[in-house]
Amino acid sequence: MKSIKGVNVSGKKVIVRVDFNVPIKDENVVDDTRIVGALKTIKYLVDNKAKVILLSHLGRVDSQEDKDKNTLRPVAKHLSTLIDTPIYFVPLTRGMLVEKTVENMNEGEIVLIENTRHEDYPKKLESSCDEALSKYWANLADIFVLDAFGSAHRCHASTYGISKFLPSYSGFLVDEEVEMINNAMHQRKTLILGGSKVDDKIGVIDNLVNTSDAVLLGGAMCFTFLKAKGYNVGASIVSEDKIDYCKDMLETTSDKLYLPVDVVTQNGIKDIENMSDDDIGYDIGPKTIANYEKVLDKSTFVLWNGPLGKYEDNGYIEGTKQIMEYLHKKKITTMIAGGDVTGAAKSLNIEFDYVSTGGGSTLEYLEGKKFKTLERLNGENK
Ligand code: 3PG
Repeated sequence: MKSIKGVNVSGKKVIVRVDFNVPIKDENVVDDTRIVGALKTIKYLVDNKAKVILLSHLGRVDSQEDKDKNTLRPVAKHLSTLIDTPIYFVPLTRGMLVEKTVENMNEGEIVLIENTRHEDYPKKLESSCDEALSKYWANLADIFVLDAFGSAHRCHASTYGISKFLPSYSGFLVDEEVEMINNAMHQRKTLILGGSKVDDKIGVIDNLVNTSDAVLLGGAMCFTFLKAKGYNVGASIVSEDKIDYCKDMLETTSDKLYLPVDVVTQNGIKDIENMSDDDIGYDIGPKTIANYEKVLDKSTFVLWNGPLGKYEDNGYIEGTKQIMEYLHKKKITTMIAGGDVTGAAKSLNIEFDYVSTGGGSTLEYLEGKKFKTLERLNGENK
């Protein structure tokens, strides 16, 4: 990949796409792993006298309410505590204020522009890689750097779009993650999959299952599989349109797929066959934890994406906590991937061998999918 290292950036306006899609509570950043991950590139550019323009998305924006809620202002505040350079936050994604602020930048200064996905409402301009928007952002700068490994699988205006119009390079975080994941790619692994982005993740399982010895399922996604198996999962989250897909997966790969036999609901711990209509599954139960530990005992490499329970609510962290502690105690080489699971590890004070800032991107990369933006940084796909 064409890395930014060694490129003459002095006096140049450099637009850096970072992934600051981080958990925020009460206007405070809860887990800053992704922000810290981008510091190396940002500091390098500042030290080399570039004018640094940061772009990131935050959450998904489908309504005015999402727009009001998903602002990068708290991220700007947090970033200022991690770096000596002041951060100028522009609360808009385009227009006079953006243009004037960028025009007046001095060497070594940093500007953070508002959440790129504000451009997704009312029209999906960012996510559809709108050409005019891509050009608009590209026109603000001389050079583009992709340092958002977590968003490298998205062909959006702020990723692939800008790279069409500017000399484009990878940042240090992207370089490091690609190297780390390339190494992990061909290792036999046990996959732990949880979290809430059910639709995104269900699709990657059948591609990863071939290089995995076992896939342990938790989080919201397991209920679609359990329902496909014929269980009553009460009022738990289910992707109805994925039930047939799950049925097929269970038929073809059932020897590798592990599902909870008990879950923690708002009404206490329930065996799967005893869930009632109003039960909502929030975490894996103790029998499941014991089953999963037996599988992990035989594993030499574990890749984990997504917490096993709704960990933001303290009552539902036990499954994630016990499995994390087990991996740690048994010294099983583990890579954790994605904001939620890294946030959980952080809140539990448990360190793992490898931490990837990507969630969906890490899984898709491991599947062997090609990322158009990375291909362009490789000089392919002009
Ligand atoms: C992530 O959290 O996985 C990345 O920031 C990408 O977010 P997205 O799935 O909303 O594109």
